[in-house]
Amino acid sequence: MNYRNRVISAEEAARRDAYISRVRSINSNKALKIFINTFGCQQNEADGESVAGMAALMGYSLTDCPECADLIVVNTCAVREHAEKKALSVVGQYKHCKKNKPSLVIAVCGCMVSQKHRADEIKMKYPYVDFTFGTSELYKFPELLAKRLKGGRRDFLLPNDEPLIAEGIAPARASSYRAWLSVMYGCNNFCSYCIVPYVRGRERSRDPRVIEEEFRTLVNDGYRDITLLGQNVNSYGQKCTFECNFAELLRRLSSVEGDYKLRFMTSHPKDATCELVDVMASSERIAKQFHLPLQSGSNSVLKAMNRGYTVEKYLDTVGYIREKMPDVTLTSDIIVGFPGESEADFEATLDVLRRVRYDMVYSFIYSPRTGTPAAQMADQIPEEVKGERLRRLLDLQTQIAEEKNAELLGTEQRVLCYGTSKNNDGMLEGRTEGNKIVLFKGDSSLEGEYVNVKITETHPFVMYGEKY
Ligand code: 5AD
Ligand code: SF4
Repeated sequence: MNYRNRVISAEEAARRDAYISRVRSINSNKALKIFINTFGCQQNEADGESVAGMAALMGYSLTDCPECADLIVVNTCAVREHAEKKALSVVGQYKHCKKNKPSLVIAVCGCMVSQKHRADEIKMKYPYVDFTFGTSELYKFPELLAKRLKGGRRDFLLPNDEPLIAEGIAPARASSYRAWLSVMYGCNNFCSYCIVPYVRGRERSRDPRVIEEEFRTLVNDGYRDITLLGQNVNSYGQKCTFECNFAELLRRLSSVEGDYKLRFMTSHPKDATCELVDVMASSERIAKQFHLPLQSGSNSVLKAMNRGYTVEKYLDTVGYIREKMPDVTLTSDIIVGFPGESEADFEATLDVLRRVRYDMVYSFIYSPRTGTPAAQMADQIPEEVKGERLRRLLDLQTQIAEEKNAELLGTEQRVLCYGTSKNNDGMLEGRTEGNKIVLFKGDSSLEGEYVNVKITETHPFVMYGEKY
């Protein structure tokens, strides 16, 4: 099948906009409040900002208090069981809000409810939830809300087989200096453990001209840190009506004048190209940070995961990245306890960690996902073995991260100030070009500004510095 870049029709967009007006008039233009609780990845955060954008047009302003809200949206994740359990328990907690305020509308959206068994579960066991909708049906949120406010029945919308791109939704961004910018949606890779291709549908890329326009607006509005999002950005533009691959997109965007850093997530190792690395290396405006998920350091596990590369090919890519960008910050995702993972397989993963020396690793215990091939595989690893492997991996990586950060002691870094640290009162939090956390003293008015700091103390997951 040829997946061209497809967007919702003008009629569909007009319908959405009409429903937005309808909600406003149903609510008689009253000032209402929405509470959005987002779980999961950056893409979900971006989706949450789109929900907030539509809600703003419908007359709802954001609140961080569920009890004060007239509308609650739980934006869920499905990537691991833990994420689903957490979302379900949070939905459970809102039951009392509805009891206290019967006019409250509760919606659940995102990856978890894009699965039929979860949508059914919400329908049966959470009768106070008004409607659910998946990630590719975000643009139907105004319609679902309008119908429910008019006394329509509860609705549980599942994704259709070929979801479309909905342009024209202006997100209400949580920050005025860092932004998510989706360049594509969905995933075609079907890694055998992963639920994403089932819940987010097939890959579809946004038109590069639309992306560039949005990007220019962000730069003009003073955004300093812009992250391009896609499940696998390397397949951006494939099988599309336009001619623009991801390297070319980066080239075009980074030629926009301004004081900002451009980054992206996530690049699949099977098709990270030299061209992409060359473009990164050639532009000051592209952050020298590369997130390249390895998942496992064993070729037989990689094969069973359907990852499409070998450890040798992966290490070649890392070699090329380091050759072109010696100061690059390298990060990765690792899954421990994939079905059939032997002690030797796991040791091979530790070995790659020792060889690559990542700055940071996001490590996960394998979580079987209903409907994925890996969940059916024989040889599931016992929980205690998975836990023990995770601890060993964390111990090794903590030591590596400590050594890597120690190399930065005494260096001068230009960090973007994220405001007051949430975990360390009285300190400001900044992020280096490689996205490492630096705490330093200063005035909270520096939030959103670049600040020069000298690194004075380093730890595995945080560094301290002084403004100079
Ligand atoms: N179990 C554990 N980790 C998973 N990931 C994706 N699916 C699963 C799963 N079933 C991890 C991968 C991916 C990251 C976003 O989440 O490492 O890169
Ligand atoms: Fe999941 Fe693999 Fe697609 Fe990433 S590339 S979203 S891990 S299927």
